[in-house]
Amino acid sequence: MTRRRALAVAVALAAAAPALSETMPEAVQYEKGAVAASLTGTPGNPEAGVKVMTTNALGNCVACHLVSALPDVPFPGDIGPALDGAASRYSEAQLRGIIANSKHTFEGSFMPAFYKTEGYIRPGDAYSGKAATEPLPPILTAAQIEDVLAFVLTLKD
Ligand code: HEC
Repeated sequence: MTRRRALAVAVALAAAAPALSETMPEAVQYEKGAVAASLTGTPGNPEAGVKVMTTNALGNCVACHLVSALPDVPFPGDIGPALDGAASRYSEAQLRGIIANSKHTFEGSFMPAFYKTEGYIRPGDAYSGKAATEPLPPILTAAQIEDVLAFVLTLKD
């Protein structure tokens, strides 16, 4: 590896380095789709979770799910079930697993895996036209997953 390339890799790794206590996407332990351990070790912030859930470039959960507790969302989607009462149907660990990577719970789900870096169909490298070489970052950070979870846990029947 040339010095320049080594430097570029070091800079990329530093930029992607998460806070110390975070569980990296590839280290998350799924048990029948559920994830018992917090990804951050700190409880999420439900208000920040709402922001993630209603922001297009982030979770945008409302594109597919109705959430009656968020009446300001103009056009909620109905591709997935309404999230009303989700915390009465699922445990915290199950919900964490669904939000991080729903494919472990619902095989072949349309729901995007929000916390993974591997197994995407990679977009090409814009300059060379070749496949991207670095792993893609997850759509959401560990903290954002815990924030969304904190809000979804308030959705009880
Ligand atoms: C592209 C559409 C789509 C998006 C975006 C999406 N989901 Fe889903 N979700 C689904 C579908 C479809 C299901 C039903 C499971 C399946 O695939 O059969 C589902 C299931 C769920 C369930 C289980 C609901 C139940 O009652 O069984 C939860 C909880 C959930 N999603 C949460 C979320 C959260 C939180 C977000 C945002 C971070 C999100 N989803 C984003 C499509 C989506």
